[in-house]
Amino acid sequence: MTVKVKKYIELLETAYCGKKLSLRQIESLLTPPDAECEQKLFNTALKLKRELFGNLVNLRGLIEFSNICTRDCFYCGIRRSNAKVSRYTMSEDEIVCSAALASEFGYGAVVLQSGEREDPAFTRQVTRLIEKINALPNPPAITLSCGEQSLQTYREWAAAGAKRYLLRIESSSPEIFSAIHPEESTLASRKAALRRIRKAGFQTGTGVMIGLPGQTLHHLAKDIKFFRDADVDMIGMGPFLPQSDTPMGDAPDDPETVKCRFSRALRMIAVTRLVLRDVNIASTTALQALDPENGREKGVLAGANVIMPNVGNVNYRRDYQLYNGKPALDENGENIRRQLLESLQKIGELPRWDSSGDPPHFVKRTAGAGKV
Ligand code: 5AD
Repeated sequence: MTVKVKKYIELLETAYCGKKLSLRQIESLLTPPDAECEQKLFNTALKLKRELFGNLVNLRGLIEFSNICTRDCFYCGIRRSNAKVSRYTMSEDEIVCSAALASEFGYGAVVLQSGEREDPAFTRQVTRLIEKINALPNPPAITLSCGEQSLQTYREWAAAGAKRYLLRIESSSPEIFSAIHPEESTLASRKAALRRIRKAGFQTGTGVMIGLPGQTLHHLAKDIKFFRDADVDMIGMGPFLPQSDTPMGDAPDDPETVKCRFSRALRMIAVTRLVLRDVNIASTTALQALDPENGREKGVLAGANVIMPNVGNVNYRRDYQLYNGKPALDENGENIRRQLLESLQKIGELPRWDSSGDPPHFVKRTAGAGKV
């Protein structure tokens, strides 16, 4: 065994035991010296995931209810300047029916995701949707992913009964953030929104894209440190995938680059599990886009404990392509569910049926004092 390998395995053990790691140590963990060490990293993260959550994966039915967006992020297929997309908002009935279907499927939770809008017609509609979903006979827990909003709006949505909120920071590095967004979007305002989400009482989730141009393992280590410092409850991360109708559509996409993005995304999941431990970590659709057969399963085997299968209406799927290669474009919710169950079984995991699946981190940080 070389000195490098020996040191890596020692560091892995230190992380597994729960010792607080320095930024340098996080970066070292993200840089296994060989393929065997990389596999050890995944195995250790999976071991910790199974100790904390068992052989169970929480499922959330994803409803991409509107692709209308006021933002113009350079990487995103539904950015406002993309005139090629036909814009839609699902009807309230369709959205509530999708949520009912998720509950029937035993998913226990839904994610309502949309483009970013702050106008009152939109924010009120979301409030109504939360109320209607909560009035279902067996309501699923509601996660929102509807962008930056005022504290008042976040509070209104929390009061209506939404439990969780996802707002990705995209990159915690100021240079990378400003290279992939127009001037009107700032990292400072994204961070402030994340704090408001927490203040409104939500189980708070964030995340980044992996494999952005110019992004190094040092940047990614800082992203993990940011997650830890922000004390978040949930993480959703995935590889960056160029979307051809966007300004970043011609970013490198050769097999070597794609392979590197995929492996970095898995390492990020594993190291985030070891550093943050009792948080929910999603194995995202973007992983499945790069490896349609096994992408999300590999995410679970690297320590993720959440999967978000689509339950929305198939008719809208094509108009919600944040990136090229979105999987399951023509699959209905039932097929997606069946395939997912089969593939989870293959890796020795089971769905955690009918459970809201609260992250233990949130339960602990809010226990007793009612403090968030
Ligand atoms: N590649 C990967 N992820 C993307 N997202 C948007 N566009 C892309 C892309 N081209 C992600 C962003 C956003 C989430 C909803 O989808 O991280 O927060």
